[in-house]
Amino acid sequence: MGEAAIQGSKNAALPVMAASVLVPGVTVLSNCPEISDVSCMCELLRSVGAKVVREGRKLVIDASRISRCHLPEEYVTRMRSSVILAGAMLGRCREVYFQHPGGCVIGDRPIDMHLDALRQLGAVFTQDGDHLAGRAGRLSGARIILKFPSVGATENAVLAAVLAEGTTEIYRCAKEPEIRALCSFLNGAGARVFGGGSGHITVEGVSCLHESRWRVEPDRIVAGTYLIGVLAAGGRARLSGAPARQLTEVLKLAQRMGAQIAADKEGIWVERSGELKSPGALETGVYPEIPTDLQSPLLVALCRAQGKSSLTERIFNGRLAVAEELNRMGAGIEVEGNCARTQGPRLLTGCSVTARELRGGAALVLAGVCAAGYSRVYNRRFIDRGYEDIVRDLKSLGADIGSET
Ligand code: UD1
Repeated sequence: MGEAAIQGSKNAALPVMAASVLVPGVTVLSNCPEISDVSCMCELLRSVGAKVVREGRKLVIDASRISRCHLPEEYVTRMRSSVILAGAMLGRCREVYFQHPGGCVIGDRPIDMHLDALRQLGAVFTQDGDHLAGRAGRLSGARIILKFPSVGATENAVLAAVLAEGTTEIYRCAKEPEIRALCSFLNGAGARVFGGGSGHITVEGVSCLHESRWRVEPDRIVAGTYLIGVLAAGGRARLSGAPARQLTEVLKLAQRMGAQIAADKEGIWVERSGELKSPGALETGVYPEIPTDLQSPLLVALCRAQGKSSLTERIFNGRLAVAEELNRMGAGIEVEGNCARTQGPRLLTGCSVTARELRGGAALVLAGVCAAGYSRVYNRRFIDRGYEDIVRDLKSLGADIGSET
């Protein structure tokens, strides 16, 4: 019961921060979420010579001088999105040195599509163990056909193509809203990118970008997490700023499960007072289907719903590990391959559980809110990678929740 204001989007902010490397001047971002992944990207930008000043949600990045091409291991291995700096660095400096990136432990996360796309634009990579060196005499427009609509590979290809000579056509692009946001930001800085948010992006290379300002859009995954929390726990809440148009499938699903939804440009109202009904068989998919990033929170709602449900993970092959922790709370989830099945309604009981990655960690917190008795969730640092303050937000939605230092 209550209202939560939805923070700026992690997945929109990080690629725009990487893109700032292409601007030989100042980029000002507002509504940039105060999360640890943004701190990590700030450190990466500083490590190549950019000046970064962060005042709350405002970020001022001055990339007039880029003096180094080495991305430090400490930050690269901490966050998967560090890999999108490769395309931007090649675009700006024609050189980049980095390690195979880290990130959430949710299955295999190869970077072959990133490297293939950059190679087609003219980059040459050499590898020594986990260390990669990328160089390009010059980048030239190319025809790139991605084998899968990867979000990061699409972003990398666009970033490297912006200052390349000639025109680049990218096919089978990811259509996630964050790609459209990145392309709009780049165009606001003088790039010529067409088709962002569609399956086919055209980039006409330009010689230089200029200074610009950008407001980061609200985070659809954070909004979806809290909406699913209300669905699972019951109640009535307003999620102000929540981007309803980016959550169409999730809102339809919530309605099928028994929630009432009202949405406008200002946000989303969600109410679930009656029985929570199983939606049957679900699967995650590429945008606009149900996002893989909401799969773990959804498991919590499914085990609370009346009837049999299943949820098949179609994007990452190791993302159902959180079921084991949820089962310690009584979720009764059976996992077979990439499919999780449960029969509800299950009564969850509070206990101590451990987060192992970002979205799974958020799901454990939601489960704790729904469970009888106290729950303690360890490893909050994973959740802080993407949620500004999940405790603050759930408290403002009426949850009995606190944090220990
Ligand atoms: C981005 C999001 C992440 C989200 C994911 C899918 C950011 C910072 N992160 O991650 O929150 O869960 O999209 O919506 O925006 N793949 C390859 N080779 C590659 C690249 C990807 O095989 O070179 C595979 C991955 O293993 C995965 C699938 O493609 O199975 C999709 O991954 P991708 O869309 O690239 O995800 P990310 O960009 O890493």
